Amino acid sequence: MCGVVGYVGYRKAAPILINGLKRLEYRGYDSAGLVALDKDNQPRRYRGVGRVKNLEKQIQGEDLVATCGISHTRWATHGKPTEGNAHPHADISNKFFVVHNGIIENHAKLRAQLEADGVTFSSETDTEVIVQLVGRNFKGSLEGAVEEVLKVIEGTFGIAVVSSEDPGKIVAARRGSPVVLGIGRDEMFIASDVGALVPYTDQVVYLEDNDLAVMTATDYQVLSFDHVPIKRKTSMIDWTVEEGERGDYPHFMLKEIYEQAETVRNAMRGRVQLSEGVAVLGGLQSKIHQIQHLKKLIIVSCGTSYHAGMIGRHIFENLTEISVEVELASEFRYRRLRLDETVGVIAISQSGETIDTLAAIREARRKGALTIGLVNVVGSTIARETECGVYCHAGPEIGVASTKIFVSQLVILNLMALLIGRYQSVSLSEGINIIKCLQELPDQISGILKNAPRLEELARKYEKFPNCLFIGRQIHHPVALEGALKLKEISYIHAEGYAAGEMKHGPISLIDENFPTLALVSGDASYEKMISNIQEIKARSGPVIIVTSKRTAEMDEFADDVFEVPSTHELLQPILSVVPLQLYSYYCARFRGCEIDKPRNLAKSVTVE
Ligand code: AGP
Ligand code: GLU
Repeated sequence: MCGVVGYVGYRKAAPILINGLKRLEYRGYDSAGLVALDKDNQPRRYRGVGRVKNLEKQIQGEDLVATCGISHTRWATHGKPTEGNAHPHADISNKFFVVHNGIIENHAKLRAQLEADGVTFSSETDTEVIVQLVGRNFKGSLEGAVEEVLKVIEGTFGIAVVSSEDPGKIVAARRGSPVVLGIGRDEMFIASDVGALVPYTDQVVYLEDNDLAVMTATDYQVLSFDHVPIKRKTSMIDWTVEEGERGDYPHFMLKEIYEQAETVRNAMRGRVQLSEGVAVLGGLQSKIHQIQHLKKLIIVSCGTSYHAGMIGRHIFENLTEISVEVELASEFRYRRLRLDETVGVIAISQSGETIDTLAAIREARRKGALTIGLVNVVGSTIARETECGVYCHAGPEIGVASTKIFVSQLVILNLMALLIGRYQSVSLSEGINIIKCLQELPDQISGILKNAPRLEELARKYEKFPNCLFIGRQIHHPVALEGALKLKEISYIHAEGYAAGEMKHGPISLIDENFPTLALVSGDASYEKMISNIQEIKARSGPVIIVTSKRTAEMDEFADDVFEVPSTHELLQPILSVVPLQLYSYYCARFRGCEIDKPRNLAKSVTVE
């Protein structure tokens, strides 16, 4: 969940570490720290709570010339966000230092053994057991000590270790939390996310689970924990510094909302043949025969990606003959499931590192299912551990609240279903119609964005209410859930998404003049029932905002406010309906003075369970 950055080379390490942490701060940001080994090989460690900029202030004026160091921006799991719990952690000799992303499951037992041996711990974290053990296992080789320690560690880790006893070297290792090496000229980098490396190199090496890396300024080696050399391929980073910058936007989230027209184009680029009414997804080609004959699909994901999966179920049910289930990744792995090669498990994940989704994929592979990835970050763990898949090609999504990736995921789910459906019962004309509707989406999204001031007005009107209900039916039920997630995670307003048909089974008890409802109404079979829902809410003085693709006089009669989006193919309608919800949530958060790109308690990639 956190940010890890390390550097060894010819340049001063501190500025590179700070800049790297700032680029990873969306991954976790309750405290930060760094350690640099200066030319006399004396460790210079700085740590503090809060944002990376606080750490930057701490080192201002310090004569930090060291060219080797490691750093960390934390998302606490064990021990409050305090200076003493901030990474890097040191062993009792103050000669060994570690930064860690993940959770050491057996830390309590190891800590008890070390304390019984007279080791005094200085933090409440699970992480500290790593470095105390490294210090005790050191016999001249830092990697040798780390290898010994990792054999007794249980849980997840992405770590970097340095020592004044073995200077000019960084030892990194991973199990369950991402680690990527940046390969420079006479300098090497390590990070928990390629975002930190983009300004310095485009050559990267992704470590796999149970890999260990030894890096010096001029060389690197990947080894097993038994010290057996491993060959890992070098990849190119597929986005530029500019794409990772905010530009003129006040927040990354707003920039990413406004990128969505281009996001749709990128998701479709080179992937449709209009004349044949088919989708072409190269990443599925190697398994296309098996995919065509799947009997069942299970979509596993978390958060916004789970909402995309719920919409994906409607899409696959309408375009293919395959029976489809959607399951929260965190629940999937505990189910008693019979899987085999006729079952496809699709993992939807922006980061490709969400540990619940990764664990679900590993469970699915163990049971013989075909695993398919729908991922944004190229080379991420889920992308590498699924047997085939499709990339979003949406560029980096920095805002913790996912927006453009949700839209990209919905486009690609339609392409996946169309690809399969055109081998099954989807007709040429249906296929052509869906592709034409997909091709109209970018302009339709741009049209919605032009009405952003209207959403700003609505946010101004309703942001003072401490609660909000989002309701929808059928393919718009997951859109209601997504709207509620956006609002709650960035404005801290208590927002709930509900299937509209469930109102009378409980939620309507919440409704009064202080409890607004945002209702998603489309012109499909559920129209009459949605109007009834709205009348029931109005009968209890509840304020109602309608987002609709088919405005009617009834809506203007019953609703307090109506926002209209263009109409498109029913399977694509959520792509348009979600845009006003994203903007509404953004403006509510702005009016409430919230930290929009880095909401409290959250992080962009959840790599701890
Ligand atoms: C979305 O706004 C949230 N930040 C979060 O729910 C996110 O969608 C979830 O953690 C899944 O992340 P992933 O897509 O990277 O797997
Ligand atoms: N479990 C470690 C801690 O609580 C690391 C958390 C993280 O990944 O940031 O310090």
